[in-house]
Amino acid sequence: MDLKSVDFIVDKYQEKRTALISILHDVQDRYRYLPEEALRMIASRLRMDINEIYGVATFYKSFSLVPKGRHSITLCMGTACHVRGGPKILRELKSFLCIEPGQTTSDKQFSLNVVNCLGVCAIGPVMMVDQKFYGEMTPIKARRIIEKINNKRSGVKS
Ligand code: FES
Repeated sequence: MDLKSVDFIVDKYQEKRTALISILHDVQDRYRYLPEEALRMIASRLRMDINEIYGVATFYKSFSLVPKGRHSITLCMGTACHVRGGPKILRELKSFLCIEPGQTTSDKQFSLNVVNCLGVCAIGPVMMVDQKFYGEMTPIKARRIIEKINNKRSGVKS
């Protein structure tokens, strides 16, 4: 694994331990997860115990120690979205992507997660793909959004 980016990121924050969370965010943005080799390098550069680094990396839900997909799909299963059909959408996504929440497709294109509220209950059921909200979701709409992203990647016009 090429760790030059990790060096560059740590340099950017001048090896400051107080910048650990920002460093981890930047590393995750670069690799789409926190590779073990990167965490070891950060520990060495910041002269910190590797367990301390792991402690921070596992404490925050936004960090992942396993590779994430290129596109992040987050489905809300909070009460407002649940009663309006969230479970049906989840079934469709699981069957279409062949993964469970918390997993990534084998082609590393999509990661699926569920949360308890995305803060936009009025437009539920809600799905978020790469920071963009999609409201009044249905199973068919959810599948079409994923297909559209897939088609864009493969150059198929939709
Ligand atoms: S319960 Fe789904 S956005 Fe709040």
